[in-house]
Amino acid sequence: MLLFQPLQHRALSLATRAWVPAMVPWRSNEEGEATDAVRAWYGRFADGRPGAIVVEATGVRDVKSGPLLRIGDERFVPALAEVAAEVRRRSEGRTRLYIQLIDFLGIRRRPEKAAWVRRFWKPAARHRERLCAAEGGEAWLELDEVALRERALLLPHARFLSALDAREVEELEMGWRERVVDTHLPHIADLPRVLPPLFAAAARRARDAGFDGVELHCAHAYTLASFLSRTNDRADGYGGTNEARARLPLEVLRAVRAAVGEDFVVGARILGEECIAGGSTIDDAKDHALRLARAGLDFLSISRGGKFEDARQPKVGEAAYPYTGPSGHACMPTIKSHGDPRGANLHLSRAIRATLRGAGLATPVVGAGGIDSSALAERALAEGACDIVGAARQSLADPDWWWKIEHSREHEVRRCSYTNYCEGLDQRHKQVTCRLWDRDHRAHDADGALLLSHDGKRRLLAPPWRPR
Ligand SMILES: Cc1cc2nc3c(=O)[nH]c(=O)nc-3n(C[C@H](O)[C@H](O)[C@H](O)COP(=O)(O)O)c2cc1C
Ligand code: SF4
Repeated sequence: MLLFQPLQHRALSLATRAWVPAMVPWRSNEEGEATDAVRAWYGRFADGRPGAIVVEATGVRDVKSGPLLRIGDERFVPALAEVAAEVRRRSEGRTRLYIQLIDFLGIRRRPEKAAWVRRFWKPAARHRERLCAAEGGEAWLELDEVALRERALLLPHARFLSALDAREVEELEMGWRERVVDTHLPHIADLPRVLPPLFAAAARRARDAGFDGVELHCAHAYTLASFLSRTNDRADGYGGTNEARARLPLEVLRAVRAAVGEDFVVGARILGEECIAGGSTIDDAKDHALRLARAGLDFLSISRGGKFEDARQPKVGEAAYPYTGPSGHACMPTIKSHGDPRGANLHLSRAIRATLRGAGLATPVVGAGGIDSSALAERALAEGACDIVGAARQSLADPDWWWKIEHSREHEVRRCSYTNYCEGLDQRHKQVTCRLWDRDHRAHDADGALLLSHDGKRRLLAPPWRPR
């Protein structure tokens, strides 16, 4: 089968084309450490012996980030090294282990309206004028600020919103969120100076921990993707044209390469399209792919959507989540959003791969999105939709599925139902499990224990599958 053919490109050396893309399982702790549960999670995927596993989005900064896995300091290295060793042991050296490196900007929960109006809103002359225009008369001009805030709270909601700037409406309705175009904020203006060394140091730590490579997270709603986005109109040489938007990801790539050398895998995940109004299209993605591939990237993984811009309005006290709107559904296609999500995003990896090959570039392309059978995987490889088959949720539903296929036991594969129970847990930062197996408490985990979720109700790892 094509799926089990090896692949060699520059530093990338895979025993098979079976690939488990990054998935955040919320197994770390408030310190961002690779806990025993993190190790067990990746060990379980290694049982299926894919060609590669990409460890979840891992923060490159040494700042508190809730239970997000982190690699922003040397102290994270020993526990990450245990994860790498576990994957090597459980796959008998077959599975390559990469780690996805992420940077993200600030985001806050949706505020309670009265608190926002009283504490965060900064009423200015333009607001007073808009309120006067909407209400008639000049009463708003004379009110002191406290009275103005209180009176504004009595307005019908829509009328109050009409007096605000677009960013203020978003702050109130969705929660405050930074963007890469907020260059009036010094730390945002400074991103091009700050990020390359942060990513480079993180990649060097990954190498020290025994990983086989890194994947630069240039997809979805995060900083490097936002630089690549067509919505990025920074005026400092890092926004506007395709060339300028790709400049920071390329500078990050060069810094990372300088830190880890040519014999360590450096790949990237990018979006085939953003799926938001005014966002990047497949033509932008082809251009980004060419620039990154020419700069010496070892692989390109293609995703889609997953943006904040069209996210569902969060409840008060919760933060917006980039996988809840139409672009989010494009990222993790479901039965509900797509009818049949199988292979839903392969047209994008196919187009990008064709562009690379047309330019004489052999950079391997990872395709993903609803791949759940050997037939689909084989077709994707045979037809040139990708060089490597990524399956995230199917691997969560059944981590042994690659092994079962390879050993003619595909009839035993537990198929993903693509209803996104797992994603719903991710959204609430709850330990991610699969509805197909998390209530099955009969079988113990490989080490004889049974790891359970914080509430004691769900098993945290797919039941072991023994007949070998
Ligand atoms: C629970 C969960 C967490 C995810 N976390 C990440 C992540 O950390 N980084 C990333 O690039 N994609 C992430 N994804 C997206 C997947 O890697 C994949 O692109 C998507 O699920 C579509 O592939 P699939 O149909 O094979 O699941 C996540 C998906 C799920 C379901
Ligand atoms: S929870 Fe549902 S969508 Fe997620 S992996 Fe399991 S079957 Fe698939």
